[in-house]
Amino acid sequence: MAVPEKVLTNADIAQLVDTSDEWIRSRTGIEQRHIAAKNQTTASLATDAAVKALRMAKLRPDEVDLIIVSTSSPEHIFPATASLVQDRLGAENAGAFDLSAACSGFIYALNMASQAIRTGAVKSAVVIGAETLSRIVDWNDRNTCILFGDGAGAFVLQADETEVGGVLSSVMRSDGSGGSLLSLPGGGSAHPATSQTVLDGLHFIHMNGREVYRFATRVMAAASEEAVEKAGMEMDQIQWIIPHQANLRIIEAAARGLKMPMEQFIVNVNKYGNTSTASIPIAAVEAAEKGQLQRGDNIVIVGFGAGLTWGSAVVRWTGPFEDAPSVRLTPFRRAARVRSVLRRIWRFIEGVIWGRGKGPSA
Ligand code: COA
Repeated sequence: MAVPEKVLTNADIAQLVDTSDEWIRSRTGIEQRHIAAKNQTTASLATDAAVKALRMAKLRPDEVDLIIVSTSSPEHIFPATASLVQDRLGAENAGAFDLSAACSGFIYALNMASQAIRTGAVKSAVVIGAETLSRIVDWNDRNTCILFGDGAGAFVLQADETEVGGVLSSVMRSDGSGGSLLSLPGGGSAHPATSQTVLDGLHFIHMNGREVYRFATRVMAAASEEAVEKAGMEMDQIQWIIPHQANLRIIEAAARGLKMPMEQFIVNVNKYGNTSTASIPIAAVEAAEKGQLQRGDNIVIVGFGAGLTWGSAVVRWTGPFEDAPSVRLTPFRRAARVRSVLRRIWRFIEGVIWGRGKGPSA
């Protein structure tokens, strides 16, 4: 995982809008969130998280076949943030694309990568959830700015003939009729960027909090149960639930719905706020680092978000990879930087040789 160093507390936010630490804590469970510095972007956080995941999995970047970045705050509309990450990692043999399913995106991306491995199409994939939501939040809107934070988390998935692990079942759902409940309306083909869209605030997150809350509490428990049933398991075979970290009250409602104690839920929304698609991998990494997740544990990951979308999966934890030899990634990153610059120079030279500015018809 990678989160920016800068922390914004509820008290800091109370200096910006009419709110209070007590209101935010009691309604959401959030105490603080991390905010990207000027030089940090979705691609830089995603790359930092991916490097750590590769190191943990002892996998060289040139062994990666697929990179998926799930995000709602991409570096640009295009090129894909995943391609920028691929270049920075030096993952020369990887295909790369972004996946847009808002806060449910990491679950979708994990499922897509796992299916690609299962068919034999790819052997190794890096799945990243990364956001810089602070860049698309209206810091004058107390309904939304209290909720979100920045960060990234990454998983490495690998084919393995011997061990049954990884994604055992998954559920992916969408109800586009609720699309307007949580959206970033401007900048796409419906409302291309103009000075008017900027004046109208269409490039910020818009949300109907109450409706999203009702939807979330409806789907979390049901989706978890569905994934467990699909995996051919019973709820009592699940050691941990890692829910999307949007709001403590929503997580507590899911615990009540599943009749499971809160002790089985991984919760860190208090520290990071809602980091959208990054929240599940960040929570998983923290739980693994604390020694909560043990090899062989069955985990339900479950989330919801804009779309509307929701999803869940049963995952069997298979790390850490103690037997494999460790890899040194710094030389790879240095080589990647040099290669990227050389490729740009080569494209320039090619342009000079073949005639810059001339199209195919010239
Ligand atoms: N500080 C103080 N008061 C606030 C406030 C804030 N930050 N934000 C809203 N209020 C006010 C409202 O203006 C409203 O005042 P009014 O009754 O005078 O109009 C009052 O508090 C209640 O607003 P309401 O929206 O009903 O609050 P709520 O209890 O539903 O809590 C959320 C608001 C956003 C915390 C809650 O709806 C929520 O968590 N929804 C889900 C959002 C979410 O998870 N989104 C991401 C999905 S991935």
